[in-house]
Amino acid sequence: MTEPRIVDRLRRDPDAERRALAAGLTATPASIPPKYFYDAVGCALYGAICELPEYYPTRTERAIFAEHRAAIAGALGRGRQFVDLGAGDCGKALQWLPLVAPVRYVAVDFAGDAIGAALAKLAPDFPGVELAGVVTDFTRGLDLDADLTAGPATYFYPGSSIGNFTPSDALAFLRDIRRHCAARPGSGLLIGVDTKKDKARLDAAYDDAVGVTAAFNRNVLAHVNRILGSDFRPEAFAHRGFYAADAGRVEMHLEATAPQRVRLPGATRTFAAGERIHTENSYKYAPSEFAAMLAAAGFADVRCWQDAHGDFAVFHAA
Ligand code: TRP
Repeated sequence: MTEPRIVDRLRRDPDAERRALAAGLTATPASIPPKYFYDAVGCALYGAICELPEYYPTRTERAIFAEHRAAIAGALGRGRQFVDLGAGDCGKALQWLPLVAPVRYVAVDFAGDAIGAALAKLAPDFPGVELAGVVTDFTRGLDLDADLTAGPATYFYPGSSIGNFTPSDALAFLRDIRRHCAARPGSGLLIGVDTKKDKARLDAAYDDAVGVTAAFNRNVLAHVNRILGSDFRPEAFAHRGFYAADAGRVEMHLEATAPQRVRLPGATRTFAAGERIHTENSYKYAPSEFAAMLAAAGFADVRCWQDAHGDFAVFHAA
C-alpha cells in the first residue's frame, strides 16, 4: 500500500490574515470571512446543523444521489481521476468511489489535517487507487494542473458550496473548472445546488427552532477572539439568518443587541444597538438559472437530477 501523498500549496501568512480579519471588523458594515466558522466547535455545530429537520439541503442532496446513483455514475464514467473539492472527511466521495472506480482520488481542502486523517483512514479500503491530497484555498482560484495527470477527471463539488460565492465569482470558479476539463478530454463536473424556494422554508433552514444555527454563527466570535485577542461577547450578538428574495440569497449576520465596545488589535470598535456584522451569503439558484451559468462557463453537455419537491438540484456538466 502506498502512502497518500499530501501537497501543501497554501502559502499561509498569519499576520496578513489577522490584518485582513481586523480590517473587515473595523469597516462599516463590518464583516468576517466565512472560513472562520470552522474551528473545532464550528465543525461540530455544522455537523449538527446538517441533522436539523429545518436544514434540508444535506439530506436532500444525499437522497438525490441515492435515488439516481446508477444514472449519475453512468454520466461520470469509470477509471477517471476523482477530484474532491472541499473534501473534508471524504465522507461524501466515499459513496461514489466503488461505483466510479477511479484511478486516482485527489482530496482538495483548506483543512490539511482533515484530509490527511481521512486519506489515511481510506487507504486500506482502496488498495488499487492512488490517493493524493492538495491543501489549498481554491476559493481564490483553482489551479490543479501540477497535481493532476493528463487523464480525464471528475470534479466533485457537492453541498451547494457554490452558493457561498457571489454569482460572478461562482461563474469565474465554474470557468476555472471548465478550463481543467477542457485540458483533459472526457472530464466533467458533478455539483450540488440549493434551489430558490418559499421564503418561510429558507428562513427556517437558516434560523432553526432550537438555536443550533444561532450558536454556529455566534461561535465565529469566540474563534475571532482567539485569533485577534479581541473581546467580543458572543452572547451580546443575535443571530440573523433570512432569505432576501430580491437578491436570491440567504444572508447571515450577527446583530449587536445593545451598544458594544470591542477591543481589536490597535483599535476599539464600537457597535450601535442593531448594528450588524455580515458573516456569510448563501445564493440560491433556479435550476434553469444554474444551467445557464454552466453554459456560460463553457459546459456543453448538462444533465440535472432533482428530488420530487425540487428542493435541491444535482448537475453533471461536461
Ligand atoms: N455553507 C452553508 C450554507 O450556506 C453554511 C451555513 C449553514 C451557514 N447555516 C449557516 C452559515 C448559518 C452561516 C450561518 O448552507
